[in-house]
Amino acid sequence: MSDEIGHDDIVVTERPHEHVALVRLNRPKVLNALSNALAAKLAATLEALDADGVTRAVVLTGDERAFAAGADIAEFAAEGPRLEEWDRLWATGLPTIAAVRGLALGGGLELAMSCDLMIVADDARLGQPEINLGVIPGAGGTQRLTRAVGKTLATEMILLGREISGREAEQHGLANRSVPAERVLPVALELAKRLAQQAPNAVRAAKRAIAQAFEQSLHASLLDERQAFYSLLQTEDAREGVAAFLDKRKPVWQGR
Ligand code: CAA
Repeated sequence: MSDEIGHDDIVVTERPHEHVALVRLNRPKVLNALSNALAAKLAATLEALDADGVTRAVVLTGDERAFAAGADIAEFAAEGPRLEEWDRLWATGLPTIAAVRGLALGGGLELAMSCDLMIVADDARLGQPEINLGVIPGAGGTQRLTRAVGKTLATEMILLGREISGREAEQHGLANRSVPAERVLPVALELAKRLAQQAPNAVRAAKRAIAQAFEQSLHASLLDERQAFYSLLQTEDAREGVAAFLDKRKPVWQGR
C-alpha cells in the first residue's frame, strides 16, 4: 500500500502503512539542498502530521544520491538559512526516523541527527563540511555530533571536514543501523511500523524525556521523567497494557 496523501514540488508525503508517514525531500537537481522554502515546507508538513491524530511515526528521506547536501549555499549571499525556522523541525512530538542514502552533509546531517533514529546506507557519506565555506555548522551540528560520536571524531569532522561512511556512522553510534542502500527504506519503514504499534502517548513522552537528557540538568530531567511516568500510569493505555500483560494477550492501544 502506498497511498499518496500530499504532493508538492519540494516535499512529498506518502502513507505507506497505517499510522506511518513517509516524507521525502524532493530537490534532486541540487542534492536536496535545504533552501528556506524547503525547510518551511518540511516544518509545515511535520506540524500537520503531528496534529492529524492518525500519524504515529515518520520516516524522513531523500533519494538515492542524497538525503540532503546541506543548507542551500545559493541563498547564503542573500539572507542565508533562517535557522530559527529550522527549530520548528526539531519540535515535532512524533517519533522520526531518518533514512539516509547518499549524502548527508552540513544541515542535511544536522536534520538526520535531529531525528530519533537513523538508518543509513553502508556507503552513505556523512559530514559537516561547513568549515570549507569558512563557517561552522549552524543547526546543531557542533552539539549533536559531539554528543553522538564523542569529541575526538567530532573535532576531526567539524574542524577538518572529514566525512565518514554509513558503516562508520553505525560503528561510532551516530546511526542505529547501517545496511545496503536498497535496504534503507524497508528497514526504516519496518521500524516505523513497530513504533506505530506502541502506545502513542508513551512514545511521545519517552521521546521528550530522552531529548531533555541533552537540554537540561539531570536533576530537572529526572523530575520531568517521573512526572511523565506517573501521568502515563493514569491513562487508559497504561491500564490496558497492564491488563493485557496479566491476561497474556496483546494490548490494544487507544491513544488515551
Ligand atoms: N546548496 C546548494 N546547491 C548545492 C548544494 C548546497 N548545499 N550541494 C550541491 N548543490 C548543487 C550543486 O551546486 C550542483 O548544482 P548545478 O548542477 O546547478 O551546478 C548540484 O547540486 C550537484 O552538485 P555537484 O555538481 O557539486 O555534485 P558532485 O557530486 O560533484 O558533488 C558535493 C557533491 C560534494 C556534495 C558538492 O555538491 C558539495 O560540496 N556541496 C556542498 C556541501 C556543503 O558544503 N554543505 C554544507 C552547506 S552549509 C550548511 O549546511 C550550514 C548549516 O549548518 C545549516
